[in-house]
Amino acid sequence: MTYTAHDKNIHCTSIELADNYYQRVIRRFEPYTNIDLLHGDSGDLMPTFVNQMTESALFWLDGHYSGGSNAQGDIDTPVSAELSVILTSPCKTHVILIDDARRFDGSNGYPHPDNLHKTVQVQTNYCIEASTDIIRITPKN
Ligand SMILES: C[S@@+](CC[C@H](N)C(=O)[O-])C[C@H]1O[C@@H](n2cnc3c(N)ncnc32)[C@H](O)[C@@H]1O
Repeated sequence: MTYTAHDKNIHCTSIELADNYYQRVIRRFEPYTNIDLLHGDSGDLMPTFVNQMTESALFWLDGHYSGGSNAQGDIDTPVSAELSVILTSPCKTHVILIDDARRFDGSNGYPHPDNLHKTVQVQTNYCIEASTDIIRITPKN
């Protein structure tokens, strides 16, 4: 099944730190009332809506600095803060996909895979695996 921005039953929230990219997507998605576009650091902004969520959601975590005109927050990637918010939020049945598994080496804000696995498996009811450079965190039951 393919979902598109036209599916009004699907609510989407996206966060962008870079001013120029944010202005661009505001124009691009202006007709879509089911899409919320937030401007800022996702590590800071995610708690405001993730902790209010009562239904399962699909998270695509791919906000990070990668040179060029990409924004750079206080650290290269807010992924640890993002994950912490999702994993400790009231809803325990989200699905989390994280791009660029190869970057997770314990440097520049990317957790080492051993620590990531421990965090997910010991503290939560989620499973973790990686395939085709994407980390997949899914509910156990
Ligand atoms: C790899 S790109 C995302 C590409 C996007 N997923 C796509 O498929 O088109 C990373 C984006 O994250 C943004 N970014 C970097 N640090 C961020 C942060 N702390 N919070 C939110 N966005 C951030 C960058 O400006 C850049 O636009």
